[in-house]
Amino acid sequence: MPFRTIIEPFRIHSVQAIDFPTVEQREAALRRTGHNLFGLHADEIIVDLLTDSGTGAMSSRQWAGMLDGDESYAGSRSFYRFRDVVQDLTGFAEVIPVHQGRAAERILFEVLVEPGDVVPNNTHFDTTRANVEHRGGEARDLVIPEGRDPALIHPFKGNMDVEPLEATIAEMGRERVPLVMVTVTNNSGGGQPVSMANLRAVRAVCDRHGIPLFLDACRFAENAWFIKLREEGYAERTPREIAREMFSLTDGCTMSAKKDGLANIGGFLALNDADVARRCRDLLILTEGFPTYGGLAGYDMEAVAQGLTEVLEENYLRYRIRSVAYLAEKVERAGIPLVRPAGGHAVYLDARTLLPQIPPSQYPGQALAVELYRDGGVRGAEIGSLMFGRPGPDGTEIPAAMELVRLAIPRRAYTQSHIDFVAEVVIDVAERADSLRGFRIVEQAPWLRHFTARLEPVS
Ligand code: F0G
Repeated sequence: MPFRTIIEPFRIHSVQAIDFPTVEQREAALRRTGHNLFGLHADEIIVDLLTDSGTGAMSSRQWAGMLDGDESYAGSRSFYRFRDVVQDLTGFAEVIPVHQGRAAERILFEVLVEPGDVVPNNTHFDTTRANVEHRGGEARDLVIPEGRDPALIHPFKGNMDVEPLEATIAEMGRERVPLVMVTVTNNSGGGQPVSMANLRAVRAVCDRHGIPLFLDACRFAENAWFIKLREEGYAERTPREIAREMFSLTDGCTMSAKKDGLANIGGFLALNDADVARRCRDLLILTEGFPTYGGLAGYDMEAVAQGLTEVLEENYLRYRIRSVAYLAEKVERAGIPLVRPAGGHAVYLDARTLLPQIPPSQYPGQALAVELYRDGGVRGAEIGSLMFGRPGPDGTEIPAAMELVRLAIPRRAYTQSHIDFVAEVVIDVAERADSLRGFRIVEQAPWLRHFTARLEPVS
């Protein structure tokens, strides 16, 4: 077959206008927000790659489902549709709707995690880490060493390192490790996939010690597609079959439907243990809502149920993974350091390598993210020491493992020319990388500080 461009597998049905703020307006916005891109008004942004979470475009079938949402407080028909789709996909008996992923985390950890416990994960996402720590637990990241080397090519850089997992269980004792989590794809480590073989190996360790294994399943469909492309024995399997096998190796999952649920809000906690589920539902009622809506409208559950079905379509996944790789290729061809290979939902620029003049203590990722916005109105997200730096024993800060800027691609929202524009901005900024300066924090919160911290340039 001749080479053909992989095109968007949809027509655009409804559009939203983008404003084009001037560079002076963007500079004023940076001063106002303390150089924190979370503080921007969305209208101050040209292309918004802050996150792929809740920012995607829904399909006409999702909107149609929403019109048919059943808003009954208890026993909503939309819940039962949602439950059936989740059960069919995951195989888990108990399905608990929540308003988004972190609510599932908060509830699950409140039931399972005690102060002093350790929760191993390939890499905790920020909210997952914060929810473990909020319970007084330790969130321990055990990704394979290849997963910490941005430039190194490996098909499954999100894999968990099984040896330190064994060592953690030996060190703490089984009773201090209430669960093991695996995040698919490994968001904080570059959106990198986890192989089925690795999930099986982690499962075997958990089985030996009787520890439940949970999937942080936000991007399960993208992970399934990578397994299909890269893991022996899966080329002929459908994404749905692969996803089902992934879930079948675990005891439960937390899910943010704002990612691979193709919805703007929603999530669930699903698991097999009826007793744990009962305790989770008790907490759900306390803060989220009755177990047949969990803080969601009936129409939200309709949108998620339909989204979970569409996300596994091969045409969608082929386009999705290709569109991210397309941006990565443009950036890489220009010689700009990035996490390789491209992740499933985002391109991660390696700010530490691009900006060697800025030490981690001066947040090179933030310096790059701020400049991408100032120069081109492109909003990305720092995933480095501003997000993950920790206070060390002597009061100085322990830097994050990597200093990255994530350019996350919302699902079905931007076209190829938006992505071409983003590549142009990244390349222009990288050409004058040596002129960029670092930042220092002038105000910060005790946890999840990156959302609200104010920074100023180091003079
Ligand atoms: N786990 C992972 C791996 C995530 O990426 C996120 C959210 C969550 C859990 C929490 O889900 O936002 O629905 O409460 N990630 C978003 C992001 C915010 O930008 O990557 P949530």
